[in-house]
Amino acid sequence: MKKTALFIMAILTVTSVFGQKKPMNEFIDELMSKMTLEEKIGQLNLLPGGDITTGAVMNSPLAQLTAEGKLGAVLNVKGQDKIKDLQQIAIKKSRLGIPLLIGQDVIHGNQTVFPIPLAQSCSWDLEAIENGARIAAKEATAQGINWVYSPMVDIAIDPRWGRVAEGAGEDPFLGCRIGEALVRGYQGNYGKENAMACVKHFALYGAAEAGRDYNTVDMSRVRMYNQYLEPYKAAAKAGAGSFMSSFNVVDGIPATCNRWLLTDLLRNDWKYDGFVVTDYGSINEAVVHGIGDQSVTSERALKAGTDMDMCSNAFIAQLSGLLQSGRISQADIDTACRRVLEAKYKLGLFDDPYRFCEPKRLKTDLYTEEHRKAARDMAAETFVLLKNEDLLPLKKQGKIALIGPLADNRSNMVGCWSTGDTPELYSTLKEAMERYVGDKAQVLYAQGCNIYADEKIQEGATFGRPISRVDDAEAKAEALRIAAEADVIVCAMGEMAEMSGESSSRADLSLPCVQMSLLKALVATGKPVVLLNFSGRPTIMSWEAENVPAILNVWFGGSETGDAICDVLFGDKSPSGHLTMTMPKVLGQIPIYYNHLNTGRPVPEGTGEYRKFQSNYIDVRNDPLYPFGYGLSYTTFEYGKPRLSGTTMNANGKLTLTVNVKNTGKYDADEVVQLYIRDVAATISRPVKELKGFERILLKAGESRDVNFTIDVDMLKFYNSDLQYVAESGDFEAMVGGNSRDIQRLKFTLVE
Ligand code: BGC
Repeated sequence: MKKTALFIMAILTVTSVFGQKKPMNEFIDELMSKMTLEEKIGQLNLLPGGDITTGAVMNSPLAQLTAEGKLGAVLNVKGQDKIKDLQQIAIKKSRLGIPLLIGQDVIHGNQTVFPIPLAQSCSWDLEAIENGARIAAKEATAQGINWVYSPMVDIAIDPRWGRVAEGAGEDPFLGCRIGEALVRGYQGNYGKENAMACVKHFALYGAAEAGRDYNTVDMSRVRMYNQYLEPYKAAAKAGAGSFMSSFNVVDGIPATCNRWLLTDLLRNDWKYDGFVVTDYGSINEAVVHGIGDQSVTSERALKAGTDMDMCSNAFIAQLSGLLQSGRISQADIDTACRRVLEAKYKLGLFDDPYRFCEPKRLKTDLYTEEHRKAARDMAAETFVLLKNEDLLPLKKQGKIALIGPLADNRSNMVGCWSTGDTPELYSTLKEAMERYVGDKAQVLYAQGCNIYADEKIQEGATFGRPISRVDDAEAKAEALRIAAEADVIVCAMGEMAEMSGESSSRADLSLPCVQMSLLKALVATGKPVVLLNFSGRPTIMSWEAENVPAILNVWFGGSETGDAICDVLFGDKSPSGHLTMTMPKVLGQIPIYYNHLNTGRPVPEGTGEYRKFQSNYIDVRNDPLYPFGYGLSYTTFEYGKPRLSGTTMNANGKLTLTVNVKNTGKYDADEVVQLYIRDVAATISRPVKELKGFERILLKAGESRDVNFTIDVDMLKFYNSDLQYVAESGDFEAMVGGNSRDIQRLKFTLVE
């Protein structure tokens, strides 16, 4: 038996007298029989340590609360030593020695930072995504963290919402697959290198009106079930240990206090048995939403199925009084307490509370070569080539002018929610490029401009990740001077890291004016220009699409961004990212998404002019700038004529769709082959197409391959107006292609 386990044996032991591990229920029954009411409520309390700021600063006396048994978990405490100290207080000073959960927003890596989640989704590479989560958990647990606030599976169709950066885009099918992969990657089998996942934000947070963060959400149940809920459900079924409720209202009730959501749906329908934590301060925010005072919101939250209070200090203040007055029951508290203790049991914290505090792992498990390679490879897969007029890849020769506010900045490459990053270890793009070209080419550099001309706006978007201020006129002159000398211009422009993520909604999604003005001046020189667009969301690039010869959307690629960009820019890897959010032409098209309903007056895709009495705009066509699933490569792919193994199937049957894909260009490259299905006539109107399968394949130059998709009845199911999950017989269309627009169609029928 381990020393630590021996040590706590006097108080708490998970091992029976016969030396066997006690089953979870038996152990927790025994433990709970010893707990006072106060200690039980303590388990439901989660407070911040303040080493990272992700909400209101609270300065809570963590050590004292822990010793008094009034704290079940902490977040934002950084450093293995600090975490171990706190855990030691929990074990040695609190009456029952119950260990703490240690949470952190480990969203896309830790010290090795992977691309932001939206970028990751553009790789469509589930294996790499799962591996990224595994590495993130390994690094996080090496530092003492045992609970990560990911995956974020909120579907979002409005790029004004900054938090689109944290999710997998607009499609529920892809969102499900990615959510599952992340849960598997983080949790594994709850070994020493695994952390507990937390699925967030339940639910519908991505549908905030007008893309303004924390704003109202309102939608029909049919839409909710068909478009928004599936990824949460998939992550629950994948075994995620915890869920986080969202800030928004669902059917007018703040999610944290919504019993239908947290109990009827999550627990009863989906049979979810993990625990539910609120988002930061959301029991108190329910007061601001206007449903009552803190006693009311605490009562409603607990009864709704919330188990742990993050940063509201509400449960700790209210629950015992609510119990005395009979507004909640002992069973309500016990249920929540039990779920929290179960999480600790699953993580092995009762076996060894210090299992995530091994000093030697700090030396061996962080920012390793293996981790860096995985991050670099993945980053290269996430870049989406939007346009290329025979300019890319670049040759390592001549003079390359590298211009833009993101070209030589160290802290912004990683993107939002990089709570474990160590920028001093990472290269800027300029440094990486200089290394990459060596003495074969010369890199000339100029910052060229600020992110925003307005210092206040730039300051507001900084949040600890500054980019130096320059005099815009002087910087532009300098940029034009080096451009005149250069053979090719590479612009590193776009958003700063914190212009997306939480509380980073934008009402204008174009390149800020000062950057646009520089870009236009550089294009006007007549030199070939490559735009590297850094962004945490789809941005509006209609002018760029017309006028800039090559555009590579690089999102925020994590700690290895610089090298990964060079891998692609200079052709050692071909770009293979495909958009997972539609890119609008103009802001007024938002929300714009590929899996929309048809309406009664649709305008067919690609219609060139305005049509009176049809569903369109006078001043812009309906088509996006770049559709969902879109992304170019250095090579070209040719799709053969797809074929189906039959034209009818029944509910027990299957059809196989086969399509031949050929690499007709000069580069070995990956392609993402996509399958969409449309239910032509159903009892409710169904989307014009829905992603139902995809395969990422590597084809050598000249190589061709048959790709097969099996179509079964599950792919044809949807929630009808009674919210029953059904497949209705009738006609369907299967569509296949390299994006959601350029597809070939086949018909088939589901027979009774
Ligand atoms: C965010 C969550 C995050 C939590 C803890 C909240 O403000 O909405 O996504 O996990 O803070 O940092």
